[in-house]
Amino acid sequence: MAGYPHIRPRRLRRTDALRRMVRETTVRVDQLIAPLFIRHGTGVSRPIGSMPGHAQLSVDRAVREAEALAELGLPAVLLFGIPNHKDACGSENFDPEGIVPQAAYAIKQAVPQLIVISDMCCCEYTDHGHCGLINQPGVPGYDEHESEGYLLNDATLELLAKASVVHAQAGADVIAPSGMIDGMIHTIRTALDGAGLINTAIMSYAAKYASGFYGPFRDAAESPPGFGDRSQYQMDPGNAREALREVRLDVEEGADMLMVKPALAYLDIISKVRANFDLPLAAYQVSGEYSMVKAAAERGWIDERRVAMESLTSITRAGADMIITYWAKDAVGWLRAGG
Ligand code: PBG
Repeated sequence: MAGYPHIRPRRLRRTDALRRMVRETTVRVDQLIAPLFIRHGTGVSRPIGSMPGHAQLSVDRAVREAEALAELGLPAVLLFGIPNHKDACGSENFDPEGIVPQAAYAIKQAVPQLIVISDMCCCEYTDHGHCGLINQPGVPGYDEHESEGYLLNDATLELLAKASVVHAQAGADVIAPSGMIDGMIHTIRTALDGAGLINTAIMSYAAKYASGFYGPFRDAAESPPGFGDRSQYQMDPGNAREALREVRLDVEEGADMLMVKPALAYLDIISKVRANFDLPLAAYQVSGEYSMVKAAAERGWIDERRVAMESLTSITRAGADMIITYWAKDAVGWLRAGG
């Protein structure tokens, strides 16, 4: 009786109902997180050229958008800030009147049930566009033994600790450090607890790769590195074992949730992290993953909806519990209409 002609896998693919019944993975609205880019001003909605369908929003517009997203049933937003002023240590990041604290406060006032996640990094706020303090004479923590241009690890930790407390006090429910700075989880947890913010969660960008797929984001957040790239702190795309090590360290330091980024080119990493750790796992479907599909769809070369949903399904199948995606809003409509 073994095998063909008795066994025919196609029997279960004959109709839509059969396919739906035996489907192993479906994408849920509850797992999708929508990124928002916030800038100063009022009534501002400034389209992001490299990411069709997305715009930098002023706080009032971001509140309206947050209300719409919550209305659709989406659980969370991830906030990025475009500051008024950039300097060597990214001061606006830890200014209580800074753009993300303002947005976090306003969104929590308007839509308390919506989870506000703050992307915690210095790169949008520094004049050189790097994710922390850069070694040069005069900068706090200057290291004469290191070359100029080196990202100072421990001095950067102090900035992240300070900014995390400010963002959490303004209302952020979750701090998501994205700079791949050694010790960032331990430092931020200690600072939050020290300020009495024991219930502010940490979602760690635990395995974040130095990736060309972030290209369109640099336009969205106005944060391209002024010199060099981020390979001295973000991970080398060739490394998988190192991702497990990075994740293990963050778990030990007290991360509540983990993240792998980018998503589609790193499904093996998502799968390995899922198999080895039991914390909730997010994957970030980054700007390049979105914009490539948009661009090809504009030319009529692929079907945006189909490819977007197939990607989200693949990322979920690989093991991600949550997906940060620029298609969050569209996906709700597509899912309601049957996927
Ligand atoms: C900040 C940060 C980046 C992204 C998320 N947080 C940029 C980078 O690391 O260069 C990328 C997001 C995207 O491409 O959608 N460190």
